[in-house]
Amino acid sequence: MPYRRKFLKRAGYTTLSALLTMGFLQKDRQKEDGSTNAATANYLSASANVNSPLRQLAAAKGKLYGAAVSSEFLLQEKGYADLIARECSIVTPNGELKWNATEPQPGKFTFESADAIAGFCQKHNIQLHGHTLFWHMGKPDWLPYPPTLKMLERHIKGVMGHYRNSPVLKSWDIANEIIADSENETDNATYGLRKGVKRELIRDLFLIAASVDNTKKFYLNDFGIEGATWKSDRFLKMVEYLKNSDVKIDGAGIQSHLWFSTAYGFDKKGFNSVLKRLNDLQVKPIITELDIIIDAPLPDSIKKLDQMVADSYKRYLDLCFAAGVDTVITWGITDRHTWIRHPDWMPGKTFRNNPSLWKFLRPLPFDENLQPKLARNAIAQAFQQAT
Ligand code: XIL
Repeated sequence: MPYRRKFLKRAGYTTLSALLTMGFLQKDRQKEDGSTNAATANYLSASANVNSPLRQLAAAKGKLYGAAVSSEFLLQEKGYADLIARECSIVTPNGELKWNATEPQPGKFTFESADAIAGFCQKHNIQLHGHTLFWHMGKPDWLPYPPTLKMLERHIKGVMGHYRNSPVLKSWDIANEIIADSENETDNATYGLRKGVKRELIRDLFLIAASVDNTKKFYLNDFGIEGATWKSDRFLKMVEYLKNSDVKIDGAGIQSHLWFSTAYGFDKKGFNSVLKRLNDLQVKPIITELDIIIDAPLPDSIKKLDQMVADSYKRYLDLCFAAGVDTVITWGITDRHTWIRHPDWMPGKTFRNNPSLWKFLRPLPFDENLQPKLARNAIAQAFQQAT
């Protein structure tokens, strides 16, 4: 898909093209998963309490449900804030804890917008997942990638230190997306790290974090690892290396920005083996950024599209819960606020130059008017059926 790859390169982000090139999206949905509608339950009448808040359905199984949130919308849109408070037991900031937000100038820290989220969490009894201390994007212009150890130390002390006594912040994505998108973009064949990043730097990052605040859960977060891929293989090797280095690493964040179409589904077997290996390594897998795009060939109606999105949520979460996953965070909660409707992040070939198709970007559990969709009920049902 050269066109898509080109666009995403321009946007500086290759998640989606990477998924395609890494073979995550296998063109054999029918064979893998049975017919497209095999798992289609009647989500609307699933059970009496399918309309209960997701956080409540999750809690009944000892699990958490939540979403990435933006302080701006929390402050400005009451309906959105009410929805988050009702449905979520965990949230993560969309951008407020990224380096460009917390340390816009060297050594000068600002926490106003992240603190607004933390305050909201406290008021509504919601956990906060800290995203993220180290990323090649969302960084101020003055900061090189990778940063020097000294810069990292100052940053981690500043940010983790600020939340050391937070009653709501319980976990950190210590590092985000450290694995390159493909073989061509790494100078490290074994670990597949982004150019310039050494495995020891990542080890030191975790060590510094533990020296600042070891009371939180530490995660390594990445995308494109939801199947047997070049990338998931490298990711698991890095996790193994960190474990063997006696570093505190509690879990793996599996982003789960998923793409399906009527022509392909997901690599169930490969993903199962990723989850199994993480569990074997005693590194807890959680789902940190779930959203689902349906790509061309598109179904011929929004109704069918919503059904496909819902089916995909159900299949994916059934598999996750069977492997013991206890935390599911969607990347946003409503299609109104989804990042993929933003021009900078919109998927290339099918959507970007076709405004008439943007209405088909419906990746989240609630719609533009904050009304529940089938996807919400599919998530509800997955929680209800989890053991
Ligand atoms: C995205 C946000 O949603 C956008 O608003 C922002 O401008 C760019 O970043 N993987 C991640 C997230 O780890 O931090 C990204 O968030 C989405 C992909």
